[in-house]
Amino acid sequence: MVALTINGRPHNVDAPDDTPLLWVIREQLKMTGTKFGCGVAQCGACTVHLDGEAVRSCQITLKSAAGRKITTIEGLNGQHPLQKAWIAEQVPQCGYCQSGQIMQAAALLASNPDPTPEQVVDAMDGNLCRCMSYVRIQRAVLRAAADMRSAKAGRPT
Ligand code: FES
Ligand code: FES
Repeated sequence: MVALTINGRPHNVDAPDDTPLLWVIREQLKMTGTKFGCGVAQCGACTVHLDGEAVRSCQITLKSAAGRKITTIEGLNGQHPLQKAWIAEQVPQCGYCQSGQIMQAAALLASNPDPTPEQVVDAMDGNLCRCMSYVRIQRAVLRAAADMRSAKAGRPT
């Protein structure tokens, strides 16, 4: 048994140590918001946070995730300013890549609350979208960043 903490809740998982975290999250724990795209760290669909850092869960073993703080898209509870900005900017098309995009963007805004457009492009560079929603993703990240700064300053958004 491996003990994981996901979205603040403990889970005991019975699986081989080298099982990809992505399989554990989706197949064993049935949290299907995190998506399988390529399985080889090339698309970003499986992005989750490990101790606050955006990582590709298809490349993280169960054993290496033990004892660390894991956050999935479910952990944002639909309330993150990015999720509201995603709706306002009507970002998704098929939607498949979007949870990974949002998790990547959430890690960016946690470390850089006022990114330039170029920094957004750089940070999001490894998250692919077959529907080409990149321009709306960039707009939504900048909108969320502005909303978060306004909220912190006590200004209405
Ligand atoms: S499924 Fe992990 S990066 Fe594509
Ligand atoms: S919205 Fe379809 S792959 Fe990104």
